[in-house]
This record gives sequence, structure tokens and C-alpha cells, in this order.
Amino acid sequence: MSSNVTPFRNVKHVSLLWAAPDRAAEIAALHARLFQPAWDEAAITALLEHPASTSLVAIAGDPKLAVGFVIGQLAADEAEIISVGVAPDWQRAGLGKLLVEGLARASKRGDANRLFLEVAADNNAALALYRKLHFAETGRRARYYERPGGAAVDALVLALKL
Ligand SMILES: CC(C)(COP(=O)(O)OP(=O)(O)OC[C@H]1O[C@@H](n2cnc3c(N)ncnc32)[C@H](O)[C@@H]1OP(=O)(O)O)[C@@H](O)C(=O)NCCC(=O)NCCS
Repeated sequence: MSSNVTPFRNVKHVSLLWAAPDRAAEIAALHARLFQPAWDEAAITALLEHPASTSLVAIAGDPKLAVGFVIGQLAADEAEIISVGVAPDWQRAGLGKLLVEGLARASKRGDANRLFLEVAADNNAALALYRKLHFAETGRRARYYERPGGAAVDALVLALKL
């Protein structure tokens, strides 16, 4: 088990901070635990340095480490979630919801009126989260994600009116 587990896995013990590029290494380490292929620190740094970046990191534990992140971008009146993830030992505690809602609020303050994302059609946890937050399906990209072994999975395009 990770040394960053808190005895109170409660979102009240989590700080939600703006994700500046100096958080890239921590976010890359977390991304590597959650996604295949993982994005390296340089790729995450480039996303966080982008002028349109609207990204948050959730910090918890002792020592304080990133336990969740959402990387977004804002362009004119539309925002996009590029990646979101919560550390396995923090999942199902409400943190994913907090991160996506936080990004939605920040995007709205930045004058976006819709928040988009792409999700694999077989990612049941993410789909359940987005449905709970009232995202609606606006499109589908056939066989968009490749899975190990050569299988391909559709991407669903979802949008939330802000
Ligand atoms: C998707 C993910 C970010 C959700 O984060 P989380 O912190 O566990 O989500 P929350 O605790 O905020 O869940 C909020 C609601 O979403 C739904 N949900 C989340 N995970 C679920 C799961 N595994 N199964 C069913 N419903 C789930 C539930 O309705 C949940 O509310 P409840 O716990 O009161 O029932 C997390 O599972 C994750 O990091 N997965 C790996 C990376 C990933 O797939 N990212 C999304 C790419 S598009």
C-alpha cells in the first residue's frame, strides 16, 4: 500500500490547487499508475505550460502528494478535459467529482459555455462519473483507442453545458 494513504480518506483532507508546471513530475507519476501508455513529465509540463491550460491538482497525505489531477484547456467559449485521474487508493471518495466540478467552474469563469471530453466506451467508472455530472453524449469516434493485443475501443465524445 502507498505511504501516502491517509487514515481518513476524506475529500475534506484534500487541497485542490491550480496545477502549475512545477507539479508535472508528480502528475506524471500518477498518470503512469492510471494510464497505458503513460505521458512523461515533459509531455505533462508542456500541457501545464500551455497558455490555455486550466488544470487542477489534488494534494493530500503526509507527505503531501498529488492524489488526483485534471488537465484541461480553454479555447474561446469551449473547454476540454484532456486527462483526469485519481490515485487508486483514493478512488470512490468523491475526488473525481470534485476535480471535474472544479474544472467546470474554472472554465465557466473563463467564459466557456461547454466542457468537452473523450472517454473510452468501456471505461465504466469514468462514464458513471460523467453521467452523474450530467455530461451528454455528442459523438463517437469508432475504434479510437487501441488496447493491448490489438483490440480497438470506440471513444465517446461527451459535453456538459456550463
Ligand atoms: C474515473 C475516475 C477519475 C473517477 O474518480 P473517483 O474519484 O473514483 O470518482 P468519484 O469518487 O468522484 O465518483 C463519483 C461518482 O462517479 C461514479 N463512479 C466513479 N467510479 C465508479 C466505479 N468504479 N464504478 C461505478 N461508478 C463509479 C459513481 O456514481 C460515484 O459516486 P458514488 O461513489 O457516490 O457512487 C477514476 O476511476 C480514475 O482515475 N480512473 C482511471 C483513470 C481514468 O479512467 N480517467 C478517465 C479517463 S476519460
